[in-house]
This record gives sequence, structure tokens and C-alpha cells, in this order.
Amino acid sequence: MQSKTITTDVVIIGSGLAGLMAGLQLAKTRNVTIVTKSTLGAGNSERAQGGIAAPIAAHDTSFSHIEDTLAAGYGHNHASVVEKIIEQAGPVMEMFFSWNTPFDKEKDGTFQLAKEGAHSRRRIFHAGGDATGFYMMERLKKNIPDNLRILEFFTAYDLLMDKEHCAGLIGKDRSGSIYTVYSSAVVLASGGCGQLFPVTSNAPEATGDGLAMAFRAGAKLKDMEFMQFHPTMLFAEGRGAGLLSEVIRGEGGVLVDEEGGRIMKGLHPLEDLAPRAVVAQAVFETLEAGRGVFLDIRNVPDFENTFPTIAANAGKHGVDPAEGYLPVRPGAHFMMGGIAADARGRTSVEGLYAIGEAACTGMHGANRLASNSLLEAAAGAKLLAEGMTEVRPAKPIRQEKNARQRIFNMPVKPALQQRMEQCCGLVKDKHMLVEIIDWLKTYQDFIFSPGETGLLQENLTTKNMLTTAWMMAGSALARQESRGAHIRRDYPDQSSEWGQSAVCWQHGVLQIEKETDHESVPG
Ligand code: SIN
Repeated sequence: MQSKTITTDVVIIGSGLAGLMAGLQLAKTRNVTIVTKSTLGAGNSERAQGGIAAPIAAHDTSFSHIEDTLAAGYGHNHASVVEKIIEQAGPVMEMFFSWNTPFDKEKDGTFQLAKEGAHSRRRIFHAGGDATGFYMMERLKKNIPDNLRILEFFTAYDLLMDKEHCAGLIGKDRSGSIYTVYSSAVVLASGGCGQLFPVTSNAPEATGDGLAMAFRAGAKLKDMEFMQFHPTMLFAEGRGAGLLSEVIRGEGGVLVDEEGGRIMKGLHPLEDLAPRAVVAQAVFETLEAGRGVFLDIRNVPDFENTFPTIAANAGKHGVDPAEGYLPVRPGAHFMMGGIAADARGRTSVEGLYAIGEAACTGMHGANRLASNSLLEAAAGAKLLAEGMTEVRPAKPIRQEKNARQRIFNMPVKPALQQRMEQCCGLVKDKHMLVEIIDWLKTYQDFIFSPGETGLLQENLTTKNMLTTAWMMAGSALARQESRGAHIRRDYPDQSSEWGQSAVCWQHGVLQIEKETDHESVPG
């Protein structure tokens, strides 16, 4: 097996919107390498349907967007981060306009703006109707400078630590060559972990790799109990078959049970556009009661032209949109927790940064407002690049040799997904969580051992998924209340006691922290 060494100023793990935005900007002044585990850009960003929220139209204000984000977040956001990210909406959109991103326009040439759940105004820019992530990513890819090195099909195994400082990473390419990458700064832009569940909107790449690597490096992670479930995944052929954007409900779609009764009527003043956690729980409970749930699109004008990707996908799965009803189920959609980071991506570990879905900045609180994630990814990358003024030079370090791990009785991905759905899904209780934690304990040695390169890539993925599940289940058990996306049947109410508390993992240990200073670098 060949061993190779790379020395670079900054290495970015992940090539979604956050990773590419950061790469493009940092490459202006630094030597930057992006490593990505499959093809460039494959992941959740390019699947984003709804769009990017930006309060830049004349009828809108940043204040209103901030208020909506905080109201949706159930008192768990870091208000100062929300302000910093939303302040960046203008400059971020200017960048995408300058790259001629084809955001949809009205006949008079003004931008067509959509509305999604819990937004008080129309402020969602979209492209290709329901293919916003695809077009934004396409523009980013077109603008990659020659000096930005990109290694595709490169799996990052572990972060390289020089005492308390992150000094690079260890990885493997498709041919099995092992790489040591020495760098002054490592940016985790590795996305989320929706693949822990059988029904998810997430790309196959979303297996929590960056979260698990940060855990092994002793970085602080927080809010791992807050997995956002999207209320409307198309459910066809016995499985999750793609996302049905919330914008459909913004355009008149309503949720009905199999008798045609509106399930959100009387449940919340915003009805079908209530915060996502409320709608997801209503769909879940209707299904639990044995009644099917459908998105009634009969009143959505020109559905097939407005949502061409969604309509085509439904057809591919044997559902004809012309009949007016699309069968739905909630599905794992967005991890609001992650590696504790400030608005500029700084984490508790010197030299380690996190942006996009892998990071937990406090932007989303306990329930992310729709279409805030592309904004956070782009704005966080921009702030990171602007803030990374001084980095110490990359230098080789002595590496410990890790003992080979014995792999036995490894669970297969579907078994882990089923367990997560049964015990750590949308609605949970102590009994269910203890059950999955007991099961995960049988893999504890594996979870707590390094990501050494002797592991096959598929075993590393399983290890990362088990580690992420470990954090999610432990955090969900610890938070004894219901808040936003975290719904405990045995603690159904929101508790003021938990209001200012965060469940954190650091050096592999769970701790509950009081959050007082939301602006300091976590650590
Ligand atoms: C959607 O289009 O419903 C998803 C958008 C988002 O989650 O931000």
C-alpha cells in the first residue's frame, strides 16, 4: 500500500455548498485542498429544493427574518449568531447574482420569492422551480479556481492531532493509497447524518463522518438530540422516495388524512405552514393512529411546471401528481446539532473549524426555519474565510501507531437504521432510548477507538454512524423535556429549566452546560 504526504495551508473535508464556498474564497490567498468522499458536490446541498432564505426584497427586513428564525427555534438559538448570519444574506446573494445563478423570476423580471413554514414573508429565492441547490452548486463548481486542489473519492479517516491542536488528517484514496495531510487549519464541511434513518431526504453520503471524527478528536459537539424530521417525504413503493418541498404548502398544498380531513386545521394558527416540528408530529401521530396522510395538491397552481423535479420524481415512483394526492411520511432531514462552532466556524479545538450542517452554531435552535441552511452554509463559509487571518504554518508531526481493530459482528446499515427509527426517531421515550443505548454499548470499544486506515471504507462508515447514533441517543436521553424537534413522550412539555441548557459531548463524555455567553469560542 502506498503512503503519500500532502502539506497544505487549509484542508476542507466536504464539497457541498459550505465546503466549496469556503474553498473558493480561501484559495484567493492560501493553498487549499478539498477532500471529498465521492464526486465533487455530491451530498445534501445539491438536493436542496426549497431555496435560500434572504430578506433582501423591498417588502422585507432582516429584523423580520431574525424574528421568524428565533420564533421557529423554540428559544434555543444563539440570537447573536442568527443576526450575524442573516446580516450576510445580502453579500452572499450578490456573490451568487454575480455568478449569474438562474434564480427564478416573474414575468416582469423581478425575483420570484416563495414562502415556507413559519416565514412571515415571501423571501425564499429558488432556481429551476425546485432545484435551487443543484443550480447554486453548479455555479460554484463553474467558478472553481485552478489553484484549488480537489481530491475526489478520498475518505478522511481521522483528524491528526498535535497535542491539543488539529494538524491535518489521515485518509485514503480510491486506490487504497494512504495519505497524511499536514495543514494549519482543517475545516469540517462534511454535512449531516440523515442516513442513520431508513426514511430520509439526505444523500447517501450523509453518514455523520465529520461528527464522528470530531468526537474522536475530543472536540465539543452539542445539541445532537435535535434531528429535524421533514413532515413530507414522498412515501412510495414502501419507502421514502424523495422530498416534497415545504414550498408546495406555501403554494396551497394541504395535509389530509385518507378521508380527506385536514390534519393541521385547528392544531396551530399557521395550519399547514406551522413550524416544521409541529407539522411533522401531526403527520407522525396520524400515521400512528393507523390513518394514511397525503399532501393534497389540487389547489397548487400548475404543479407540474412549478415543481418539475418533484413531479418527475413522483412519476418515477408510480405516483401520478395529476391525481392530486401524494402519500407522505416524515423523514430525517437536517441535523441541527453538531460540532460546536461560532459564526466564523471556530470550534473548541485550535486549528479545527466546522461550517454548514456539520456545525452547531446556534443558528437553528431546536427547529430550523426552512431554507435557512443554504444561507447558513454560504454565510458561515464567507465569515470563516474572512476571519481566518492568522494560521500557524503546517508542520509534520510524529504519529502514534494504532493497533489494528478487530471487527466482529458488525451491524449492517439497514439494521442500524431500523433501530434508530424504532428507538430514536421523531417521538421517543426513556424506555426506547435505553434500549438503543444498550444495543450500541455492544459496539462501545469500536466507537471509542481511532479511525485507523486498516479499516475498510464501509467499516469506517459503520463506525461513524454508530458513533453519531451514540451521541444522538445519549443526548436525547439526557434532555428531559420536549422542545422543537426533540419530542419526548415521557416529558411532553417544554421546561424553563432546560431553556438555557445544552447537552454536549467533549472528550467522549456527555455533559450538560449552561449557556450564558453565546458569543465566545466554545471550549
Ligand atoms: C423544503 O424545501 O421543504 C426543504 C427546505 C429546507 O429544509 O430548508
